Amino acid sequence: MRDRNAEMRQAIAKDWIDPPYYRDAEGWLDTFWAPRSPFLPLFRQLDLTRVIELACGHGRHAAQILDQAGEITLIDFEPRNIEACRRRFAGHGKLRYIVNAGNDLPGCEDGGYSALFCYDAMVHFELLDVIAYLRETHRVLRPGGRALLHVSNNRQNPGGFYQQNTHWRNFGSLDVFLHLADRLGFILLDSRVLDWPGAREIDGLMLLERPA
Ligand SMILES: C[S@@+](CC[C@H](N)C(=O)[O-])C[C@H]1O[C@@H](n2cnc3c(N)ncnc32)[C@H](O)[C@@H]1O
Repeated sequence: MRDRNAEMRQAIAKDWIDPPYYRDAEGWLDTFWAPRSPFLPLFRQLDLTRVIELACGHGRHAAQILDQAGEITLIDFEPRNIEACRRRFAGHGKLRYIVNAGNDLPGCEDGGYSALFCYDAMVHFELLDVIAYLRETHRVLRPGGRALLHVSNNRQNPGGFYQQNTHWRNFGSLDVFLHLADRLGFILLDSRVLDWPGAREIDGLMLLERPA
């Protein structure tokens, strides 16, 4: 039977194989890492002993935390992005690299990780895939482990394709994600609605904890 969600996932992932984004995005790291960024105070609440970065692209965020983190596991659906990270971080022993199926965390053991984060990627993903990642994140975090997830808060165009939407935000809702996170067993530590250039309240950020 036709799997429409999988078709959409493939269509989305195709956009992120080798766009100019990866070069350009290295120039706007301040959004996430500057002292005034709304991401940074939440990121600082993660324990980076064993951290997963989901949908790592070409590794611009991992490069920011190389000195602070213990082990970093980089996961992405697109093998060429994982290859780019392998080249970028060649010689750094603390990195692991995983290509996934677009909705799972393979090779990550149950309860093994202190933190997981995902920036500027889940905002594009299919809702069913975000839900699958929430389940998987709960599975792999150790008790007391935390996840910081940058999600879409775009309630426009249900059933549409993400490219039709402002900033290519897929259909999503911070409130719905917070509700689902609660039901999956997370503690909700913090959340913010975020503006993106020219678009008010289009994104969300949530800090979740797997209870001890
Ligand atoms: C806009 S890029 C962001 C990359 C990185 N997070 C950054 O901020 O530079 C989106 C990333 O999500 C990856 N991706 C797309 N669909 C995915 C999926 N279903 N699961 C995991 N990664 C996916 C792409 O390969 C790409 O690396």
